[in-house]
Amino acid sequence: MSATAAHAPSKSSFLERHYHLLRRLHSLTGVAPIGVFLIPHLTTNSSIVWGEVFNAKKYAELGAGSAGVATFQHEVNFIHDLPALIFIEIFVLWLPIAYHAILGVYFARSGRANTERYAYQANWRYTFQRVSGYLGVLFLFMHISSLRWGWTYGGIMPSFDADNAASSTALHLQGGFFPYFNAVFYLVCVLALVFHFANGLWTAGITWGLTISKQAQQRWGVVCAGIGMALAAAGVSAVVGFSTLDATKAEEIENKMQSEVAVLTEPAAPQ
Ligand code: HEM
Repeated sequence: MSATAAHAPSKSSFLERHYHLLRRLHSLTGVAPIGVFLIPHLTTNSSIVWGEVFNAKKYAELGAGSAGVATFQHEVNFIHDLPALIFIEIFVLWLPIAYHAILGVYFARSGRANTERYAYQANWRYTFQRVSGYLGVLFLFMHISSLRWGWTYGGIMPSFDADNAASSTALHLQGGFFPYFNAVFYLVCVLALVFHFANGLWTAGITWGLTISKQAQQRWGVVCAGIGMALAAAGVSAVVGFSTLDATKAEEIENKMQSEVAVLTEPAAPQ
């Protein structure tokens, strides 16, 4: 090789030169933090249903049928009291999601994904991984921008109010272009994203060289399917729970909780 050729600037793009590193980072961000976040997120959201069953005694003084709303409000208060929440959100959620989404679209469009881990899996899962990825980008952008940044899209995505957590989430899901449009949109997108995560977890085993034999891939497939089904159950419970919640009644429960906290934290009147 001539000295000129050795020092000639590479004509390939940054993405092509660092393809393997970027691909691994893409796989990593999908598993953690994004996938890891999804587990407590869907567990918290489904508390609108399981809270009603498991916390009925704990919140009995708020009245019958209040425990789901109270449990969800309690979980949201815990999250909003975390120190430096905005830094956690930016660096642990929004930037990794943006990276995963942008690189995901690039890999899907360049077709190079075909040659590596996807060579091992069934065609329909390969196709649906891409379809659910595109849908996920749209859903997550609308979801985060409306519930976290307060964009209402002309009223079709009612925003979230952390002090009235369950009632505002119920209004969000019961709204849309027509009543309950968002509930259907959420149901489809949440199930698509759960598939995307569970199938991505399976292909990550190949990407990281952890599941090399056919038997190992089959065993890991059973674990991933189990995780996917548990998350799907949590996601469906959350969507159904908020879509069927009476938002006016939920707001009364939340206001009752706030006035009880105010009484408990009020300084005692001087004697
Ligand atoms: C079952 C349907 C879902 C419901 C009811 C729901 C509900 C919510 C709510 C209420 C918030 C605002 C939280 C807050 O400000 O404290 C939120 C934020 C968020 N959700 Fe969901 N969510 C659902 C599904 C999903 C899915 C499938 C994902 C996929 C990863 C996801 C990712 C996020 C992210 C990244 C945020 C921003 C969190 C933050 O910045 O603090 N959500 N969601």
